[in-house]
Amino acid sequence: MGLFITFEGPEGSGKSTQARRLYERLQARGYPVILTREPGGTRIGELIRRILIDLRHTEMAPTTETLLFSAARAQLVSELIRPYLATGGIVLCDRYADSTFAYQGYGLGRDLEELQAITRVATGGLTPDLTFYLEVPVEAGLERKRNQGSPRPEGSNPEWNRLDARDLAYHQRVATGFQELMQREPQRWRRLDAMQPLDVLAEAIEAAVEPLLGSIAPLEPA
Ligand code: TYD
Repeated sequence: MGLFITFEGPEGSGKSTQARRLYERLQARGYPVILTREPGGTRIGELIRRILIDLRHTEMAPTTETLLFSAARAQLVSELIRPYLATGGIVLCDRYADSTFAYQGYGLGRDLEELQAITRVATGGLTPDLTFYLEVPVEAGLERKRNQGSPRPEGSNPEWNRLDARDLAYHQRVATGFQELMQREPQRWRRLDAMQPLDVLAEAIEAAVEPLLGSIAPLEPA
């Protein structure tokens, strides 16, 4: 029931912008659709997000980090995603469990089977119908993210968080991890070059979603 679409990619890939554009297009076309994000998307999840991204939390253990991402996900799945899918609607989510495999698994070196078990508990086995991967060279993406928003004094960019601040090698392991995840399940993923102009990307994304819309009933005009 419903349609569950996720967006993944390294830092600065512009996936949040594209998720929003798809959301606006589907809404304009009369489809029942919601847009959410991870970590966050619920009141409890947004509080967990604050703990996760706080630059002061340098002492956070990798297990704590993994479980907090998973806890936020469990809340999102149970409070928002499953109920909305059950009504036959479309859920767009900016990051989901693939990020845990890429960041905590490949990035931090957590055991992948263990992550699978934790993820199964958090999501009850809910997997996306389609996942977009917005590909951008790691360094270019970090540079984009570092410069997001208006210029601010060094260290005060609110977009720059504890997880972005990890070293380049970490972000490169994450990118390699995403490549491996895509190889394992090629039918679920659509890989797109995120260096393309925004409009070209948005059109490619909408075109990829098109064949899946047949099962979704548009909302009745009010
Ligand atoms: P955010 O500012 O939302 O980054 P982005 O715009 O790139 O999504 O911060 C989310 C960060 O959390 C991002 O660095 C990816 C990381 N992350 C994980 O490490 N594990 C996870 O399971 C998820 C969902 C995100």
